[in-house]
This record gives sequence, structure tokens and C-alpha cells, in this order.
Amino acid sequence: MERQIEISEKLQKARTYEEQALKKDTMAPKQLFHVCAPVGWINDPNGFSEYQGEKHLFFQYYPYDTVWGPMHWGHVKTSDFIKWEHLPVVMAPDETYDGFGCFSGSALEWKGQHVLVYTGVEREEKDGKTTDYQRQCVAVGDGINYEKTQKNPVITSDMIPQGGSKLDFRDPKVWTEDKYIYMVVGNRAEDGSGQILMYRTKDLATWEFVTILDRCANRYGKMWECPDFFALEEKYVLMVSPQEMQAQENEFHAGDGSLAIIGKYDRQTHQFVEEDFQSVDQGLDFYAPQTMLTSDGRRIMIGWMQAWCESWFTPEDGFCGMMTIPRELQLKDGRLCQTPVRELADYYIGKHELKRQQVPQIFQKYDKLSGRTQMLELNVDGEGDYRFELKLAANDQYYTSVCYDNRDKLLTFDRSYSGVRRDAAHTRSINVLSNQESIKLQILMDRYSIELFVNDGVQTMTSVIRTPEEIDGVYMKATGLAFVQAQKNNICMK
Ligand code: FRU
Repeated sequence: MERQIEISEKLQKARTYEEQALKKDTMAPKQLFHVCAPVGWINDPNGFSEYQGEKHLFFQYYPYDTVWGPMHWGHVKTSDFIKWEHLPVVMAPDETYDGFGCFSGSALEWKGQHVLVYTGVEREEKDGKTTDYQRQCVAVGDGINYEKTQKNPVITSDMIPQGGSKLDFRDPKVWTEDKYIYMVVGNRAEDGSGQILMYRTKDLATWEFVTILDRCANRYGKMWECPDFFALEEKYVLMVSPQEMQAQENEFHAGDGSLAIIGKYDRQTHQFVEEDFQSVDQGLDFYAPQTMLTSDGRRIMIGWMQAWCESWFTPEDGFCGMMTIPRELQLKDGRLCQTPVRELADYYIGKHELKRQQVPQIFQKYDKLSGRTQMLELNVDGEGDYRFELKLAANDQYYTSVCYDNRDKLLTFDRSYSGVRRDAAHTRSINVLSNQESIKLQILMDRYSIELFVNDGVQTMTSVIRTPEEIDGVYMKATGLAFVQAQKNNICMK
């Protein structure tokens, strides 16, 4: 007879709280087609995986408030990455070894079960000193209910290589390879910056240390959070989210960012050789991306659509935090490129096209392109020097602007007038990596977000806006001689 999974009091409390909150009609409207916090706060995507033919996504979750608190894991699933079904909370910080939080982790299907691997954080108060130990833990379940294993924590502090911090040891990402389950996990090295440790197991209970896969060595920020490691075409990609970065030209902004290291990996010796470095996303709100491999062979990434330093939601909204659109990853000329999952196109309705035409010198409104839940595609080209300016979600008072200056190939996103109320970073510029003088922009808009895919996803910029939903105008102008050709598709969930 199958054993019943016990639901702890803390988990039941979270489930009941969530269920009741969802029945009330007091929250701000959610995004139309992006995963949002059901209630309260969410951060990193966790456990992005396929189990019994469905795609599951978990997330860092504190249901009781719109700010970060002791971490639970929330849960949704989908068959197409666009329409998500809400499921009950799967983990609460209800054990001694994870009483301060069930931090980020990942999942895989193994021997017919759904395995979650996460960081349990235990807070110790001793001699007036507070210490948070981070260790790796396992929970196993059936797609709804999960049980933390008796052996937890399965990777303890004494399995960290010498000099590595016991306090910064988190965010395991697992996959199967040969007869093993492999894991990469973030750690802080003796030099104060991140390193990525690799472990493996054959049975989930006994893990062995394999290697230090890569070291930050104080080059890209300090601690490296949320590592991911995967093959992509002929290369390997190590993706990390560095804290405390210093800005490097327009490629990396200051603070918490996302870094892809592209290189070669030898599966026998476990040596990773770095070749190229790039920002994963250069917008204002993107962190902690995680990927999964679909059964049809696609590497899909989802990120937390928020920056740690600012949040654009208030207690009155009732929820805070959301995810990006899931994105297919490819390598093009050695660069990591992203496009929205192809399933998005199944939700397109009401296509409008704008034939190639000159962009006027003063702002003109394009009524047929207006909208707030849509994919807008623009191809801009010109003769000589020009500066193209686009206003989205615009009226007389509000707008979000996207400008392209072909002289220095600079693309600038600005949400200063997008309903945001805090004195924070609202603008970001990137150097467009292209030999062409023209530019292609795919602009994916949902109620609170704009995701910009530049030149078929060679670069992306993801940002949150708070412009009232009914403000949906699209305006364009150009100095110099520029032409635009456009098409837009509304996105409808019916
Ligand atoms: C990244 C992160 C992780 C940690 C989690 C805690 O955003 O700081 O390193 O596991 O959030 O919620």
C-alpha cells in the first residue's frame, strides 16, 4: 500500500492561507500570461522540470506578506509554458535543518518520482551570535505532495572543500548523466567571491564531491548564486547570478546581475574551460534564471522578473513578484540567444501589419499597434545617421521609451514615466551587437512587463512597468531618415 505523505502544520497553514487569499477578490490584477506570485512574495524560479509529461515550476515563496520572509516553495504546472495551473504549496520551513528557509533548488524525474533538491537553511543562535548554515536537502514527491527525506541534509558543511564558506552554500541545480545525478551549487571561496562546486550521487542519499567547476576570483561580482550548467549545441554554458557586480561598460550593470559563461567541458575529467562571458539579460528586472530540457530537446530558461534592490508592488497589490516568459536558448556565433517559447504564437490573435514607411520627425500615434498584452515586432532601417524613438504604453502623461541611435548602435530603454514611484534605476542602454545598420525589435508586453528581444534574441532587456493598464498608445518618431515596418499580435488566453 502506498504510504501517505504527511503534511506538516506549517505547510497546511500556508496551503490554507493561500487557498483563502485566492478566493478573495482584493488583489491587483495579475499578469495575463506570465507566472505571478499567487499571494504575497515570490523570488527565484525553482525546480523547473518535466515530470510525467508535464512541466513543473516551483518558486521561492512567502505567502504571508509582499516582502521576503521564511522561504516556502510554491508550485505551478503547464503543458505549454503559457497557461499555468496553480497547485498547493509543496514545502514549508518546518524542519530543524531548514527552519530558516527552504532556499532555491531544482528538480528532476528519477525512477518515476519527482525529486526536489534544495538548500535548507538552519539558523543557530549561540553566545549572542547568529549563524545561518546552508546545506543541501532532498524531497521526493508525486507532482502534488512531497516528502523531505530522512537523510537530510544530504550534503553537509563538512563536504565543502577547504576554505569554502558554510554560510554561503546554496542553490543546487541537478541533472542526470551516465549513472549519476550531478549537481552544481554556489559557494563562497576563501577570496570572498563565488565558486561553483560539483557533486554527484547514485542514490540521492550518498553524495561525493567531484570538483570545483569554476571560480569567480573576484572578476564578476562576489557570491555566485543560482548556478545552472548545461550543454548547448557544441558548447557548455555555466549560468550564474553574481551579487555585488561592478558595472562593466554597457554589458554588466552594477549590483545583482546574470552571467553566462560559455566554454568547453570534458565529461570525463569534469574540467570546464571558460571561453566567453556575457550578460544573460540587460534589462532592469531580471535575476536567478533557471533552465530545463524538454522532452523534445529544447533548452528553456525562465527568470525572476525583478531585481533584488527594488520591487514595484505594494502591500495593497496583495502580491509581489513574477517570472519572465519562458525562453528557448540557442547559440549563435558563440553567443547565447533567447526567443520566447514557440507556444506563445498559439495565443496570437488580431494581427496588424504596418508596411515599411518613413518614420515622421515628430511623434505620431499608431493606433493599430496599440495594446498592453501583445507581441509587437519592428524592423527599423534608415539612410545616414538617424535616431529612432518609440513610446509604448503611452499617453500624454505616461510612456516607456525605447530609442535606437544608429551612429553608436546604442539602444536605450527608459521607464522613468511608467508609473513607478521610487527613486531607482529606470534606464539602461546596450551596445547593439550587429554588423547591420538596421535593427529588429520584438517587444513582448504583459500588464506589468516589457521584454525586449533584439535582433532575434541576440540581446534581451527585461523590465517591469506600473503604467495603468488602460494606457496603451504606441508612438514613433525619428530624427534623420528612418523607416519602420511593423506587425503586432494581441495575446489572448481564451
Ligand atoms: C537568489 C537567492 C538565492 C537563495 C534565495 C533565497 O535570489 O538569494 O541564492 O536561495 O534567493 O530566497
